[in-house]
Amino acid sequence: MRIAIIGGTGDLGKGLALRWAKNHDIILGSRSQEKGAKVAEEYTHLAKQAFENEFKGSITGTENSQAASRGELVALAVPFESAMENARPLKSVLKNDQIVLSTMVPMRRVEKVFEYAPFVNVEPASGKVTILSAAEILAQELPPANRIVSGLHTMSAKRLSDLRKSVDCDIVLCGDEPEKVGRIARLIEEIPGVKTYYAGPLRVSSLLESVTPFIINIAAHSKKHEPLIKII
Ligand SMILES: NC(=O)c1ccc[n+]([C@@H]2O[C@H](COP(=O)([O-])OP(=O)(O)OC[C@H]3O[C@@H](n4cnc5c(N)ncnc54)[C@H](OP(=O)(O)O)[C@@H]3O)[C@@H](O)[C@H]2O)c1
Repeated sequence: MRIAIIGGTGDLGKGLALRWAKNHDIILGSRSQEKGAKVAEEYTHLAKQAFENEFKGSITGTENSQAASRGELVALAVPFESAMENARPLKSVLKNDQIVLSTMVPMRRVEKVFEYAPFVNVEPASGKVTILSAAEILAQELPPANRIVSGLHTMSAKRLSDLRKSVDCDIVLCGDEPEKVGRIARLIEEIPGVKTYYAGPLRVSSLLESVTPFIINIAAHSKKHEPLIKII
């Protein structure tokens, strides 16, 4: 599969690129074409060292929109605060059959406690409150909504980037099109030690995203520095 990773030069992007490059063609997206290309060279070196003759894919790097236009899957791995400014320019290059993966978690830290911070809309006339997850906001920016799959929120970039180790965690996904979620699930399950679960349509994404601050708070009060989740 051709996989574009928007923000692929960052922590999560690195881990995904290294793991998936074993069998797939990765296109790192960056705000800077030069940075994308340079980081791709670095990751190629790491992947070749780790996988040796099992390295069947490739890693190239370019500017975000260029990357997005080439990927069958376009994974967004940028900080939530800058998500929409990075996503908006992709709208004109995306085709309807491309899948968009949202990994983003809107959260903030308030007095040492991490809180989930989705977009909250209050209708002035009725007072009706609507909570929009990162994935739902992305679906508004990059319609149609049924191309969005939401997941990987509880993945650890550090564990993912350590190619000597199995990741050993479960990942919960949601999305309106089960066939598209299934394709992403199979891709994620290629990462050693990872199993996936489907949790329903995109509107449950706020539940999935909110697990990340939940486990980070647990980490702050336990010896588990990088807690991951398992469904048992
Ligand atoms: N880190 C994790 O363990 C983890 C786990 C699960 C989910 N996530 C989610 O994955 C997303 C990426 O997390 P991350 O830790 O990989 O982020 P990061 O390393 O801080 O940033 C990723 C990339 O985003 C790009 N970017 C675009 N606009 C930016 C801006 N205004 N400021 C800074 N960087 C910007 C940068 O690439 P260029 O400079 O090349 O454009 C950067 O390398 C987040 O939404 C997070 O919630 C992270």
